[in-house]
Amino acid sequence: MTSYLDAASAPLKNTGQIKLYNEQDFAGMRKACQLTASCLDEVAKMVVPGQKTELIDKFVYEYGMDHGAIPATLNYRGYPYSSCISLNHVVCHGFPSSKPLREGDILNIDITFILDGWYGDSSRMYFAGAPKRAAERLVDLTYDCLMAGIEAVKPGNRMGAIGAAIQELAEKERCSVVRDFCGHGVGRLFHDAPNVLHYGHANDGVEMRPGMIFTIEPMINLGKHHVKILKDGWTAVTRDRSLSAQFEHSVGVTETGVEIFTASPAGHTRPPYL
Ligand code: MF3
Ligand code: CO
Ligand code: CO
Repeated sequence: MTSYLDAASAPLKNTGQIKLYNEQDFAGMRKACQLTASCLDEVAKMVVPGQKTELIDKFVYEYGMDHGAIPATLNYRGYPYSSCISLNHVVCHGFPSSKPLREGDILNIDITFILDGWYGDSSRMYFAGAPKRAAERLVDLTYDCLMAGIEAVKPGNRMGAIGAAIQELAEKERCSVVRDFCGHGVGRLFHDAPNVLHYGHANDGVEMRPGMIFTIEPMINLGKHHVKILKDGWTAVTRDRSLSAQFEHSVGVTETGVEIFTASPAGHTRPPYL
């Protein structure tokens, strides 16, 4: 049985219970998440053919430090970078590298800043130069899947409504939803209860209540949903080497619906970011 508890009196660990946050907590999340979103706005200028993604990662580190924040991924379970940068058929958790971006690459940049103890977790897709038509279509679809998931967030709905909305849209477009990674509760912990599945049935899962905070971060593949992890122990790629895309927002359940904490201050949604 799932239970909910007041986040203020909860231990700072994942007990499987769902923490409910108050208005002051929402303000803390807003601040951390807006810093993450600003950084995602800033890195857009760096995504050009020839760019080394390790320089983007370095920028993310410096940006965090300059604003009093720590990148949550750095040394998280041994993860060695300040961001995850996942190109083309990489599904998630790609390592920034010294290999230059190439014209037509599509990439996800995933950043989590810890500011005043709050975790702001978000990712977006970017284009290096002009993408191929199929790649652009996948990226547009994946953004629409994230937003369809977010639209399913309101008190009284079950968590399964999110996955159901995402899966329905993705499969209607003959794409597939990655099963091996999910969204997660977030707040003063990076990864907390509940798991947020990006597929499934609207009547499954726990009921959403005002004060819940979690991420929605669908990974959508042009081919089949299966993934494998490379020998570095982190990089997840599509088994069939088909293109994969992902967008992520951190959101809170309000009395009437949803607040998107990581919405872009510059008004950016999906690429190209002009
Ligand atoms: N930011 C990722 C997420 O959306 C988690 C990355 S964990 C890492 O949950 F260790 F790979 F960085
Ligand atoms: Co996340
Ligand atoms: Co993330």
